[in-house]
Amino acid sequence: SSSLTVLGIESSCDETAVAVVRRDDAGTHVLSSVIHSQVMQHKAFGGVVPEIAARSHVETIDDLARQALAEAGDPGLDLVAATSGPGLIGGVMVGLSFAKGFALARDLPLIGINHLEGHALSARLTEDVQFPFLLLLISGGHCQLLSVKGVGDYERLGTTIDDAAGEAFDKIAKVLGLGYPGGPALEACAKTGDASRFTLPRALLGRKDCDFSFSGLKTAAALIAHAEVKTEQDRADLCAGVQAAIARQLVERSDRAMKLFREQTTVTDPAFVVAGGVAANLALRAALTATAEKNGFVLKAPPLKYCTDNAAMIALAGLEHYEKLGKGALPDTETGMSTIARP
Ligand code: KG4
Ligand code: ZN
Repeated sequence: SSSLTVLGIESSCDETAVAVVRRDDAGTHVLSSVIHSQVMQHKAFGGVVPEIAARSHVETIDDLARQALAEAGDPGLDLVAATSGPGLIGGVMVGLSFAKGFALARDLPLIGINHLEGHALSARLTEDVQFPFLLLLISGGHCQLLSVKGVGDYERLGTTIDDAAGEAFDKIAKVLGLGYPGGPALEACAKTGDASRFTLPRALLGRKDCDFSFSGLKTAAALIAHAEVKTEQDRADLCAGVQAAIARQLVERSDRAMKLFREQTTVTDPAFVVAGGVAANLALRAALTATAEKNGFVLKAPPLKYCTDNAAMIALAGLEHYEKLGKGALPDTETGMSTIARP
């Protein structure tokens, strides 16, 4: 019987997170996944303040690690995995340096994980999602369509040329006085709105790729907000319109990506994984589910706690790389953080 147990660390934005994930013959198990959200610390500023974030990571990371290890029953560990980017550099350095020190103290190998790769594989924490699959990653920092062919084998089919989807939700919510983070507030406000009342622009019409753009929508929404939004109903109508416009764009590009994916592979019923914090939006999910069904894909969304930033997905990405390279892989001193290295 084989078993691998990995400590994961995530600190690239405004969440400090530590998790322990094990894979054995019975499957993949999240033994613990603890998160300290800094949302309250950044709220007054209407967005994440990098210095406050970095200092908060320093303050909390050791306690979180202790807690994650205790909750997992102080397991024997085989590997440490930490986010090595992209993200706010101050936070990334805190998590990575902590991971290096921990790996040194315990004489464990260490692997640096690309944060997006964590999101890309997160669906495999709770379900046996087979490669290749199509991924729509929609978070506060990212908006991408990827063909996930295997561990470490990703083809980007489309990305945003300006804002991420969550960023669009947050910025438009801010203009409408809905507070931070704006995505959930905007979704709630949209419930009683009429999406057809305001005319909003369709982005990148005529382009045949899978790229996204939300800045035109943001500008249009801001203009309407200042000129025409006076009552609660006006605000609800604009929220509903904005949400529908974002949904329409995500649907159009996903539809195109599904057709591209189909041309490249012959798998039957491939998975369409929707990950990232914005995947929490139920209206978007419904629209994307319909698109997936139309194209013969099966929509899979990781549970919300693994959709938003967390360390279990980082531990899993480390685990999958370690499995692929073979336990006890030798240090690669040339590429350093991108492969498994002994401290
Ligand atoms: O994945 P995540 O926790 O952090 C990043 O890696 O960015 O995503 C956070 C983003 C925020 O922009 C937030 O407003 C958005 O996800 N979000 C939502 C909803 N819940 C969270 N956007 C739309 N509707 C929601 N229900
Ligand atoms: Zn993220």
